[in-house]
Amino acid sequence: MSPASRTPVLAANWKMHKTSAEAEAFLADFLGRVGDPRDREVVICPSFLALKPVVDLCLQSPVRVAAQNMHDEPEGAFTGEVSAPMLAEIGVDGVILGHSERREHFCESDEALARKLPAALDAGLEPILCVGERESERDSGETEAVLRRQVEADLAGVDDAGLSELVIAYEPVWAIGTGRTATPDQAEEAIGFIRSLVEARSAEAAERVRILYGGSVKPANAAELLGRGEIDGALVGGASLDPADFAEIVAAAS
Ligand code: PGA
Repeated sequence: MSPASRTPVLAANWKMHKTSAEAEAFLADFLGRVGDPRDREVVICPSFLALKPVVDLCLQSPVRVAAQNMHDEPEGAFTGEVSAPMLAEIGVDGVILGHSERREHFCESDEALARKLPAALDAGLEPILCVGERESERDSGETEAVLRRQVEADLAGVDDAGLSELVIAYEPVWAIGTGRTATPDQAEEAIGFIRSLVEARSAEAAERVRILYGGSVKPANAAELLGRGEIDGALVGGASLDPADFAEIVAAAS
């Protein structure tokens, strides 16, 4: 279990799944199952188009809502993009940044992330920064070097106060959508290393920053992972699409 000072975060990354109608059907089922998890932070991350309906449906519940990406500029000639103030205006609470699928398929760079993180914080959004190594990088013993490069570069523009407000998700690329979960030892080791990187900047922020595990988290393995002291929650993809499965994962964090 996380120390009492760090409220566990259970975030549902729906990726490019669920229309607005499907999101509404999910919440009609999920909100009743999840109840009022005061000791946990539950976050739903739908597509841009489903954000507003999900925000409206979650207004009377403790469930929070985050986007899956944003542009670093508040406005401008960036066709097809969405800015942090636009997300904040409709009541969105946070934003996933640097997911490996965006790094891989959409050329998301550490330089862009270094601009996006302060922009999100400035707009009052809670960023969920994703970092993690590829399988070949783990096999060649580069896991810590990759995590160091991503964490140091992506957080370069965030001040110490901002550091303690954000959430980081350790997501080994080889575990995402593959059914291969990192062992609790592997997850704890990587998360401990990430926390040491934050500590090099600010001991207070390292104590407060929530660091999650993500990669094939399911109801069957959630309790084992979430029971570990270093793991402050989970970023869940596939299993978060099913209201019963995601509610079970939320319950496993109690
Ligand atoms: P997964 O995805 O749970 O389907 O492995 C996790 C993620 O990509 O955030």
